Amino acid sequence: MTQHSPDYGRLERVLQVDGVLSEIGDLDILLEKVLLEARIATGADAGSVYTMEGDTLFFRHAQNDTIVARGERIPYTRFTVPVNKNSMAGFVASTGEMLSIPDVSRIPADSSYSFDDLYDRVTGYRTVSSLTLPLSNNRHRVVGVLQLINALNPDGAPVPFSSELIPFARHFAVLAAIALERAMMTRTLLLRMINMAELRDPRETGPHVNRVGACALCLYDSWACLNSIPDPERSTDRDVLRMAAMLHDVGKVGIADSILKKPGPLTRDERMIMESHCNIGAGILSKCETSFDEMAREIAIGHHENWDGSGYPAGARRDGISLWARITAVADVFDALGSRRCYKDPWDLYRTVETMTPLFGRKFDPGLKEPFLSTTAVLWETRNAYPES
Ligand SMILES: [Fe+2]
Ligand SMILES: [Fe+2]
Repeated sequence: MTQHSPDYGRLERVLQVDGVLSEIGDLDILLEKVLLEARIATGADAGSVYTMEGDTLFFRHAQNDTIVARGERIPYTRFTVPVNKNSMAGFVASTGEMLSIPDVSRIPADSSYSFDDLYDRVTGYRTVSSLTLPLSNNRHRVVGVLQLINALNPDGAPVPFSSELIPFARHFAVLAAIALERAMMTRTLLLRMINMAELRDPRETGPHVNRVGACALCLYDSWACLNSIPDPERSTDRDVLRMAAMLHDVGKVGIADSILKKPGPLTRDERMIMESHCNIGAGILSKCETSFDEMAREIAIGHHENWDGSGYPAGARRDGISLWARITAVADVFDALGSRRCYKDPWDLYRTVETMTPLFGRKFDPGLKEPFLSTTAVLWETRNAYPES
């Protein structure tokens, strides 16, 4: 291989990319970058990446230079593919084998899979060649699929993926698999943290954190709709919010049982210690590497702040409190009022709404009043989906 051969350039790029990827924490951004670099390394015009959960493949990203060059947007879709041998991606996921197809219109009739031309029909794009690779972790378990479409020759015409390109594509499949492994580990750790907070505080039960997460999401959907937040941004944020809101009281892991489980009212000093759970939670989440960490930290520090500055720990007010914390605060109070506490019976929806409504503009963000009022019935149904066991 000479310094001027195309392979040398590819190899050099692959080596550089390794460093860049290790600095990206957010899974979606990372998968996007892996797909882009895999396409550059193999000369693919388009591609997509899927993650696998159970027996389903979840579509995560698509890229297509031809469609972008036409000045069109790649259709934003969310779809799933069953893991079976009927589709190309499903075949690769179920067998763990790579699939290189020179021309999708000439797939032999006796193949178990066929080419789904829905995307081509919707966009007017023409898929010819494809290279589909399993993303396998180091225990050879498939965690996703990387699909590259239309290798282009120097004239820009689609040609089959040459066998020389396959090692480069495999390299990116390994990188994507590592990224996915990392994301799965984060998710597992997160669920453990939630369980830990739940064990410490009898009020922070599994159903409570689930109800707060689900109600925060419901409020955000209503707010995003009223504020015309574009769809891709909305979907990313809602995925992160659901889990981040569940961690609102994670800082309670740092509060002594003698205070957390005290049956009677707290003394002034005890109350101050109790209130420090906001700072402890933010401290636990302080390494803001991903959009999730950042949102969870903002919620932990801000969910007891009030719009008028009368809350704690900082007395932050208005936009000084993150939107995510303002939303979670409404969801947390809504759930607490509807739940049994040692000092009160659960309130019904009418009493809960009647009590909370005048608090918008004082305790709660007034911009959330309409999203709240227009969705109270859905919120109530949502919270009832997670009963105390
Ligand atoms: Fe709290
Ligand atoms: Fe709570």
